[in-house]
Amino acid sequence: MNPRQIKISASILAANFSDLGGAVRDAETAGADSIHIDFMDGHYVHNLTFGLDLIPALRRHTSLPLIAHLEIANPDEFIQDFARAGADIIIVCEDACPDLGATIRAIRSGGVQAGVSLNPDRPLDLAKDHLDGLDMLLLMSVVPGWGGQAFIPSVLPKIAEGRRLIDGLARPVALAVDGGVNRDTVVDVVRAGADTLIMGSAVYSGGDVARNVGSLRDSISSSRL
Ligand code: DX5
Ligand code: ZN
Repeated sequence: MNPRQIKISASILAANFSDLGGAVRDAETAGADSIHIDFMDGHYVHNLTFGLDLIPALRRHTSLPLIAHLEIANPDEFIQDFARAGADIIIVCEDACPDLGATIRAIRSGGVQAGVSLNPDRPLDLAKDHLDGLDMLLLMSVVPGWGGQAFIPSVLPKIAEGRRLIDGLARPVALAVDGGVNRDTVVDVVRAGADTLIMGSAVYSGGDVARNVGSLRDSISSSRL
């Protein structure tokens, strides 16, 4: 059996905001597989981050997929804008969508891959019926809003259950984990069944992105021993 390919998604929330172009170039050079951008609106979470224009601005600096994680209220109002801005994957928060199926269809009808993120206290059942239409299921392992928080270990059984559900599907769905994934927690997260690791602090802390990503890859490899 082929080992699952593990992807690293660099979350620029932890990067130096005065040089985000450099941050995505560094991630690409270091071998990251995608760029994760947390859009926060001050309503869904009590924090504010970026506007839509960041997507085309970053596009000029990397050919990696740009993943828009919409930690915003009323995401339905912005799906078409994010698609037009050039997001490769749009991830909405399950509890911000009154009709999740319709939101997923709207994302995909714009030619964009669809993701749903489930907060730590939200059961997998809420996304289960939608998996067939999804490209990425994201399990939050911190309460959304800030980088640098501690991983919530009670999410590990949910990751394992997500893996079982996804393995039973006819088409591939990425299983992403976001929040507090770092050298100390990455082995547990991979062993539980995640295939996409969204990491901010672990990628950008200290500024040596190549070294950070290299040591994360070593930890990922050791999780298979
Ligand atoms: C939190 C964000 C995460 C955040 C993760 O609301 O969704 O993507 O950047 O940051 P770290 O890896 O530092 O926990
Ligand atoms: Zn995120």
